[in-house]
Amino acid sequence: MTLAGDARPRRGKEMRDLRAIPDGALYAVEGVIRDVGDSRTLAARYENAGELIDATGKTIVPGFVDAHTHLVFAGSREHELEWKAEGMSHQEISARGGGILHTVSETRRASEEDLYASAYARLDEMLAHGSTTVEAKSGYGLTVEEEMKLLRVLDRLQESHPATIVPTFLGAHAIPPEFERRAEAYADLLTREALPSVAAKTNARFCDVFVEDGYFTGEQARRMLSEAEHLGLSGKVHADEFADGGGAALAAETGAVSADHLVHANADGIRKMAERGTIAVLLPASSLASRIPFAKARHFVEMGVPVALGTDFNPNCWTESMGLVVSLAAHQLGLTPAEALTAATINAAYAVGLGREVGSLEVGKRADLLLLDVPDHRHLAYRIGGRVISSVVKDGRVAWQAPAPSQ
Ligand code: NIG
Ligand code: FE
Repeated sequence: MTLAGDARPRRGKEMRDLRAIPDGALYAVEGVIRDVGDSRTLAARYENAGELIDATGKTIVPGFVDAHTHLVFAGSREHELEWKAEGMSHQEISARGGGILHTVSETRRASEEDLYASAYARLDEMLAHGSTTVEAKSGYGLTVEEEMKLLRVLDRLQESHPATIVPTFLGAHAIPPEFERRAEAYADLLTREALPSVAAKTNARFCDVFVEDGYFTGEQARRMLSEAEHLGLSGKVHADEFADGGGAALAAETGAVSADHLVHANADGIRKMAERGTIAVLLPASSLASRIPFAKARHFVEMGVPVALGTDFNPNCWTESMGLVVSLAAHQLGLTPAEALTAATINAAYAVGLGREVGSLEVGKRADLLLLDVPDHRHLAYRIGGRVISSVVKDGRVAWQAPAPSQ
């Protein structure tokens, strides 16, 4: 399944067109795809040209692009599962000292070295689950210095880890305790001090804002995103996750690349996203973990909004598996298996600004692909949580391989 097509995100019916090549093959040199076609032609064209990976009987898809993760943090929050079992909501868990601010205090205590090591191991796990490109946000530091620490970790991972990493600045993830009841002052600090320093000293490509009651207002988000744009960072919005806060419309109006979550997005916002080409990054694993409704994916597809997917990997939603997310998308969001695969590859690539580099198997793109041990691509969505991937190829090299089955 090549997912080839025009150089733009897929919308509407295009999301079902996977551009399959039966008995296909591809040829890559130094990690870049040079030719794609049928096996016979390519075998004749490149006889003895180098290393051959035999994919007989397998289904080949582009590597997953995980369009939304909170990769770098310390500690964990398994105790919150017990609170969830008592019926506590996200807001109640935060009020009891859990949630984002719990992770902020653990992360502030952690050294850059430890954060680097744990994030590196998580990326290994993501790669083993087929994610060859991963967007990764800061957001558990919430001071200028601590946010810079997390972004430095992401920059170092970009240099050292085989996965492609796209760093996002999310200083606007929560109001830190020092700024309790002074959200406006914190938003100012982010806009005036943090953003210029992030833009000058880190590789962050995006600025994200959590727009929600008790977090940041639409006005604060507009100011931050406009300053970010001025400094060369594209926008993203955590929008309408727990309630309709007008986040979808705000993302469209500010020209953000994506609006994410969108569980409670309203029809007007969705229409504005369609007009502007704002990508909807849907996060079904996050709905599962927070025990909130699933986004209405069909509505987005039918309105012509390009839909992408991400894990939302974070201490509240600990999954490295885009395969699980694709299954949830098909079983709970209402996407077809083909739409879910498009959302997890080419549309996710556009959502992280890398649509011309990754996300489909086309000449000139990175040779990032998955060998699946299943008869066709639908099994990826159909099988829930099982092992479907037999090899992960990143930049033309086998980066992960399933252990051989015992005889
Ligand atoms: O995307 N919505 C805000 N942020 C995260 C949750 C982070 C956390 O609970 O630590 C999310 O779901
Ligand atoms: Fe998130």
